[in-house]
Amino acid sequence: MDIEEASLTRSADTRALAYLETVATRRVFPDNDALAALSAFDEPLSERGVDAEETLALLDDVGSPATVATNGPRYFGFVVGAALPVAAAAERLMLAWDNGAPLHLTSPVCAKVEEVAAGWLLDILDLPRKSAVGFGTSASASSLVCLTAARQKLLMNAGWDADKHGLFGAPEIKVVVSEKVHITVLKALRILGFGTERIIFAAVNDHGAIDLARLPPLDARTIVCLQAGEVNTGEFDPVEAIALKAQEVGAWVHVDGAFGLWARASEKLRHHTVGMELADSWAVDGHKWLNTPYDCAMAICKDPATLAAAMNSDAVYANGANSAQKNLTIEFSRRARGVPVWAALRTLGRQGVAAMIERHCTQASALAQALSDNGFDVVNRVVLNQVLVRGRDDAETRAIQAYVHDSGDVWFGTTMWGGRAAFRLSVSSWRTTDSDISLLSNVICKARDAYNPSAQ
Ligand SMILES: Cc1ncc(COP(=O)(O)O)c(C=O)c1O
Repeated sequence: MDIEEASLTRSADTRALAYLETVATRRVFPDNDALAALSAFDEPLSERGVDAEETLALLDDVGSPATVATNGPRYFGFVVGAALPVAAAAERLMLAWDNGAPLHLTSPVCAKVEEVAAGWLLDILDLPRKSAVGFGTSASASSLVCLTAARQKLLMNAGWDADKHGLFGAPEIKVVVSEKVHITVLKALRILGFGTERIIFAAVNDHGAIDLARLPPLDARTIVCLQAGEVNTGEFDPVEAIALKAQEVGAWVHVDGAFGLWARASEKLRHHTVGMELADSWAVDGHKWLNTPYDCAMAICKDPATLAAAMNSDAVYANGANSAQKNLTIEFSRRARGVPVWAALRTLGRQGVAAMIERHCTQASALAQALSDNGFDVVNRVVLNQVLVRGRDDAETRAIQAYVHDSGDVWFGTTMWGGRAAFRLSVSSWRTTDSDISLLSNVICKARDAYNPSAQ
């Protein structure tokens, strides 16, 4: 390594450390001055290049103040989680390795560590131990991967080899999803060519979980997509009953468990996930509730050969086993996203993961209670880490969110539930303490009082 590379790497580390030292106290959403300063990036592409230290300085000096402090304790939007120090540290080390990790040949260590991480993941989530685990970029991509495998398998069962013959003239595969399906599952289905108007929507109950009594019929040409953790309420579809029905007829059950599947890691919460192991495939994020850095997610498929056939990218110059990550994910060249998962699981251990998940759920319940005591309408029954709250009307709800956004003290977003605006509070950062939760409820009350002084 030359002196310049050493100095630049040290600068980046120093700047990263300085950022982390302030992440718990900095504004959560940047102020207008920081946003306006972003225009410093509006420069023409340099002909001869610019000094590397100067490039890094611009990114940090102008860029860092315009970040959203999602890696801090007071960001409650979008179920994002922060980055556990060990998972982020493992990523830093991997940056130095710069190993692409499609298969053993390109990085023996990544292949080994991802294999171990896959086993631990199946263990902690208590899913069938022979399942294949593809470490990909997101729950969106993981659902895409699993649904591709699902379609290939059901078509194969119907005597149609889609790999060879494509989809024109293939038997029709039906897809059933919840009325509250996450938009990214619909996106995956659209990419796969299912056509949004052909998708069958299963009715949900007041909590946002599929109403079993109104489940559309399933057959051997049906993929049914369930949720572990509805994005607003955190609710779970009745997986066991639906998976048993699906098994009887040969339908495929896919579970979008982007954050909620982690409930399975806790003895106290796993009752929400009874029968989860009966499904055929699952998508779950690392970068949400496990608090790994972006972008990190897992596509898990009970039938390893089906996933490996659907994702195979063997080439004359690069053959891999069915377990090679390039044969389980969309990417060929890829970062070893299983390594931060391994680091997080190894460092937290089974109890540490459960404790983090349970703490967030306890904090969410305490938050709901505090807001309800202060006259807010808590809309959901808070089964997990999500709290859905309304002001007296949509205008008040939106005004509270806008006040909070501007304050920089905390951040959360709004959603629609039952045709009305609500704010969605998600507790998912390992850094969040009970006093951050008190601060959040105080800021919300202050925002309501500023909008509507007579409510005090
Ligand atoms: C329930 C659910 N499914 C899927 C996704 C998409 O996850 P990702 O952003 O990792 O693609 C999310 C993200 O918010 C989610 O909450």
